[in-house]
Amino acid sequence: MSEITIKIFEKLSPELEKQTDELRYIAFNKKDLTPKQKEINNEKFTFSKDCFAYIIAFIQNTPVGYIRLFKRTIHFYGKVVILGGIGGVCTDPHQQRKGIATQMLQIAIKELKKQHCDIAYLCTNIEKLGKLYGKVGFVPLNRQYTFTGNSGRKYFDTDGMIAPINSENIFQEVLNNKEIFDLEGLNW
Ligand SMILES: CC(C)(COP(=O)(O)OP(=O)(O)OC[C@H]1O[C@@H](n2cnc3c(N)ncnc32)[C@H](O)[C@@H]1OP(=O)(O)O)[C@@H](O)C(=O)NCCC(=O)NCCS
Repeated sequence: MSEITIKIFEKLSPELEKQTDELRYIAFNKKDLTPKQKEINNEKFTFSKDCFAYIIAFIQNTPVGYIRLFKRTIHFYGKVVILGGIGGVCTDPHQQRKGIATQMLQIAIKELKKQHCDIAYLCTNIEKLGKLYGKVGFVPLNRQYTFTGNSGRKYFDTDGMIAPINSENIFQEVLNNKEIFDLEGLNW
């Protein structure tokens, strides 16, 4: 197998941005997205706000894997919580099932630790990909979470997973709580 190099970037050069846009376009099958679906994604998800880094996997200088890392301060029962986040995870379809996403996720968790995050959140198709994220400590939130779209509208969903980063206590409190978990901003 060709050698994989994984790097973290605070900001992407225009060239790398173009290459990773293409990678995401293919991996997420964006050609099949209707204008309405694109509009919904832009309403619900942040792509740059709260994003502090990108993890990119390369094979011979070509990006083959991508992750966006997020960080936001939220409030949970009077406590300030530093919520880390993972979004946009993808691997080039020709390079899938070789452990690239797993390696990137391991680096992502280390980076969220360095950034003093208490816990991390992501959303995914848990039935399909719960195992992938489970390898690095994520478990299903198992209840509703809420987030606020760009329009100010509140949304509710149930596909959230959380992981302990620097605080096992906060992780347990959030996991065992019965209230709707509030992301206090856009989803990622
Ligand atoms: C999901 C995705 C990022 C996985 O990337 P990858 O580099 O192939 O992942 P890995 O090789 O590290 O997979 C590790 C494990 O995760 C699970 N997994 C990965 N892809 C899976 C899939 N498509 N279906 C079911 N399980 C999967 C498996 O348990 C796998 O272990 P195995 O290969 O030994 O069975 C990649 O398939 C992708 O880009 N998909 C399209 C975009 C997407 O849906 N991203 C997720 C957004 S939440």
